Amino acid sequence: MLHPRIIVAKNPEEVGKLAADLFETEIQKKPACVLGLATGSTPLPLYSELVAREKSGKIDFSKVRSANLDEYKGLTPDHEQSYFSFMRNNLFKHISIKPENTIIPSGISEDVEAMCEEYETKIEEWGGVDVQLLGIGHDGHIGFNEPCDHFPQKTHEVKLADMTIEANKRFFNSADEVPKAAVTMGIGTIMAAKKIIMLATGADKKEILHKTFWGSVTPQVPASILQFHPDVTVICDEAAYPF
Ligand code: GLP
Repeated sequence: MLHPRIIVAKNPEEVGKLAADLFETEIQKKPACVLGLATGSTPLPLYSELVAREKSGKIDFSKVRSANLDEYKGLTPDHEQSYFSFMRNNLFKHISIKPENTIIPSGISEDVEAMCEEYETKIEEWGGVDVQLLGIGHDGHIGFNEPCDHFPQKTHEVKLADMTIEANKRFFNSADEVPKAAVTMGIGTIMAAKKIIMLATGADKKEILHKTFWGSVTPQVPASILQFHPDVTVICDEAAYPF
């Protein structure tokens, strides 16, 4: 078992800045790097910081490629709660990344299996993910890999756990409107990234952070597999620090 490198920041804004430092270094080292990107509230301060850094000339996104973790099933890209909209509004439309260099699994594909295979192939063609950004769900999900009896390998369709629907209903008018399924990179896709950066903020993430990195490795806590990844950095705020 490996314990992650863990960096404790004062607050979510500082988490965003420290994470942005790591992304800045990566992009300077490899201008056409492949970033694995995540949605949720946690990465928002990071995304604002990245936008500010490109505006001030510190980062250049014009050659960067990105592959997102997941998308809700049934939401069209222009739906305001789709992860496509999330990425466009919070990051892509403010930076110089080229739309053709950003991929997100489709939530409306008629042939989901073929779409998932194409998604994996595209990431492989790009040479794999250099840095994968992750948040974490209260049940230990990463992307939308929910607790189950195995670690799913590749990009696939999943049924969302009740806890996830409950947590994500804040973005919709009611829990009924939250899609019940999603398409997500698999645990194998995530584990294949060369470097992983997990962000966690708020006291409600403390317990799951502890279970993930200091508990048993089990598909019932999908993120716990990260104990077997050789290069994981966790950046959390004081409220989420698990000790
Ligand atoms: C969603 C996303 C995850 C994210 C999680 C936590 O379910 N699919 O990628 O990590 O929510 O979100 P938040 O950062 O808002 O707590």
